[in-house]
Amino acid sequence: MSKASGFQYTKTPLRFVMNYKDGGWDEGHLSSDETIVLNESACVLQYGQSVFEGLKAYRTKDGKIVCFRPDLNAKRLADSCIRMKMPPVSEEKFLEAIKAVILANEDLIPSYGEGGSLYLRPFVIGTNPVLGVKPASEYQFRVFACPVSSYFNGEAKPLNLRVSDLDRAASHGTGHIKAALNYAMSLFNISEAHELGYDENVYLDSATHTYVEETGGANILFVTKDGSIVTPKSDTILPSITRRSLLVLAKDYLGINVEERRIDIKEINGFKECALCGTASVLSPVGSIDNHGDIAKFESVGKDSVMTKLRELLLSIQYCDTKAPKGWIYEIK
Ligand code: PLP
Ligand code: COI
Repeated sequence: MSKASGFQYTKTPLRFVMNYKDGGWDEGHLSSDETIVLNESACVLQYGQSVFEGLKAYRTKDGKIVCFRPDLNAKRLADSCIRMKMPPVSEEKFLEAIKAVILANEDLIPSYGEGGSLYLRPFVIGTNPVLGVKPASEYQFRVFACPVSSYFNGEAKPLNLRVSDLDRAASHGTGHIKAALNYAMSLFNISEAHELGYDENVYLDSATHTYVEETGGANILFVTKDGSIVTPKSDTILPSITRRSLLVLAKDYLGINVEERRIDIKEINGFKECALCGTASVLSPVGSIDNHGDIAKFESVGKDSVMTKLRELLLSIQYCDTKAPKGWIYEIK
């Protein structure tokens, strides 16, 4: 079994590859080739026709291998494909592909207790040449795997965020799907944030720059002074599977009041705790958010914080130490 360090690409032995041509997908197969040969005018290269997913396989205490709610990743990938005018991959094929990749790279899943997992990256790209702006007619669906541990350096240290002047997602745009273009536009901004000593950017709604949306790679949660959880409600953020799950766990397992609503950036000084959530970031505590010199500070760490309790509960569900709600754990082996 491997040891994972941080969140980076490592070549693993086998990946799943399935191609779409003449109006249909082929059966797909496992391949040892980590490269893709494309025409110079492939739609993904010229017009960015690309969508992806992220999910993890966990090794449990009793040696089983499981995934967390992969049916929701399958559904979201299909939604992303439809919005980007790409042929969706069926849920059945998606689950077959992730299972095949996990089993083929089984030895690389970190041991139970190490805090690591095998990250799976399913994606679909438009592969044939186009010159005028139009969708491709040929596609590739691929799933590769990498052993990972924490996404942010030194996960124990609360994150230091800044409010961004640039936008991530337009109203009526593509913020609600997992299109590669949403990440391409954030690269300038994340680099600048890092140069200035911040870990991530907090984006506001692009129409009015008033309401909190999310960060470049995670949804955001707050805890109010009276111990309730609040999280932004918006049509232009990614519907995080982790966030949707955390709200259920907070309410049903911890008896915490949860609320999804618009959150004015001016309100955040009044909140007690803050954290980012996502497959890669799990539940990462936030220490401060700098809104152009107005710095909101949070007490998101420590044994008694709501975020610490929630993070521990989420991980214990994902590693099967605590019984999950029905249908959340997908057993691979
Ligand atoms: N928001 C963005 C922009 C993301 O890239 C991710 C990562 O997938 C998330 C939120 C979290 O989503 P999930 O919990 O489904 O991984
Ligand atoms: C994930 O959490 O799976 C993501 O895709 C986020 C990405 C920024 C690494």
